[in-house]
Amino acid sequence: EKVTISVIKADTGSLVGNHIVPPIFEETAEDILEDSVDEIILDYHVTHVGDDMSLILLHNKGEDNPEVHGLAWKIFQKTTKIAKDMGLYGAGEDLLSEDFKGNIKNMGPGVAEMTINVRQTEPIFVFAADKTEAGAFNYPLFQMFANPFNTPGLIIDPAMHMGFKFEIWDLDNHKKIYLSAPEDLYDILSLIGSIKYVIKRIYPRQGHKIPENEPVAVTSTERLNAEAGKYVGKDDPVMIVRSQKGLPAAGEVLEAFSFPYMVDGWMRGFHWGPLMPVSVKDAKATRFDGPARVISLGFQVKNGKLYGPEDMFDDPAFDLTRNKAMEITDYIRRHGPFEPHRVSSELAQYTTLPKILEKLKDRFQDI
Ligand code: F6R
Ligand code: MG
Repeated sequence: EKVTISVIKADTGSLVGNHIVPPIFEETAEDILEDSVDEIILDYHVTHVGDDMSLILLHNKGEDNPEVHGLAWKIFQKTTKIAKDMGLYGAGEDLLSEDFKGNIKNMGPGVAEMTINVRQTEPIFVFAADKTEAGAFNYPLFQMFANPFNTPGLIIDPAMHMGFKFEIWDLDNHKKIYLSAPEDLYDILSLIGSIKYVIKRIYPRQGHKIPENEPVAVTSTERLNAEAGKYVGKDDPVMIVRSQKGLPAAGEVLEAFSFPYMVDGWMRGFHWGPLMPVSVKDAKATRFDGPARVISLGFQVKNGKLYGPEDMFDDPAFDLTRNKAMEITDYIRRHGPFEPHRVSSELAQYTTLPKILEKLKDRFQDI
C-alpha cells in the first residue's frame, strides 16, 4: 500500500484578531473534503492551531499533485470569501496570488508531503505550530532522530542504530545539503542551530527496513514574508513524523517537545518566545498574541484510512512544560522591545520595522 500524506495549511482569516480559526472554516473544509473522498482523496482530517487551518489529506496521487493542491486551494478561496463577508481579521492573509496554476507551493500556504509504503503498522504524527516559522522544528527533529539523550532507541535498537540522514535547506540561497548522523553530527548542528537552515526531510540509512529514499519526517519550509517581500503574516509551519519499529517511538517523538525551547515569530513577527505544546482545545493565541503553540495529532495509517486523531499534548504529562513556558514568557516579556526578546536586525527586515527606520534615516548625523 503506497500512499501520500499531504498537510496543507493556511491562515485565511481568524476570529477576534488572530486568536483562532472560526469553526465555520473547518466545517466548510470538511464539507468539501467529504465530497472529494474516493474521487481525489482517500481520507482527511481538518484541524487548527491559532489562526492557521491545516488540511491533513491521505491520497494516492503523489506529491505536488494539481488535483490535491487544487482542492486545498478551493477550500482556502472559499474560507477567504467567508472571512471577507464576516469582516474577519486577516481575511485571505496567506493567499499571495489569485492565480492558481496547479501547485499551491510558493503561493502562501505551507505544505508538507510524503509518499510512503505503509508498513504493517504505521503510526504518524502531524505537528502544526502558530506564531513561529520554518526552522522551528529543527530542534525537536534533532532531538528525535539524532540525540540519544532524547531517543535511547538510537543506542539500543539495532533497527535504528545506523542513524538517519538529514536533508537541510538554505532557504536564502536555494541550496540543500545531505548530512548523516552520527558521523556528521557537529556539521548538522553547525547549520541547524540557526533558523537560516531548515531541516526539510529526514531519511533512513542503508540497512534500515524502510528504503533509503522514503522520508520518515518532512516539514513545510515556505517563508511567506520572503515570498511576499514584506511582512504579511507568519509562515507557521507544519510537519509529519513517522514513528516506531526502527523509528523514534511515539514517546521519543513527543519527548522532543517536553522542553519549551525558544522560537521566533511571536507578536508582529518581532519576538522570540517559548514554544508551548497544547491540546487542540488550547490551540489559540491570547497572551501577547501567543505564546507560540504547537499541537500534535497522532494517526495510524492503514487501508486508505487515517485512524485517529489522538490529541497527543492533551495530557497532564505536559503540564510542567506548559508551566515552564509561561515562566519563560514572564521572564522574556520583561525585556520589552530589547533583544533577545526582540528579533535580530536580520530577521526584523521582514517585519514592519524597516518603515520606521526609513523615517529616521535623514536624522542621522556623522560622528
Ligand atoms: C499575526 C500576528 C500578530 C499581528 C499583530 C498586529 O500573525 O502575529 O501579532 O502582527 O496582532 O497586527 P495588525 O498590524 O494587523 O493589527
Ligand atoms: Mg498564524
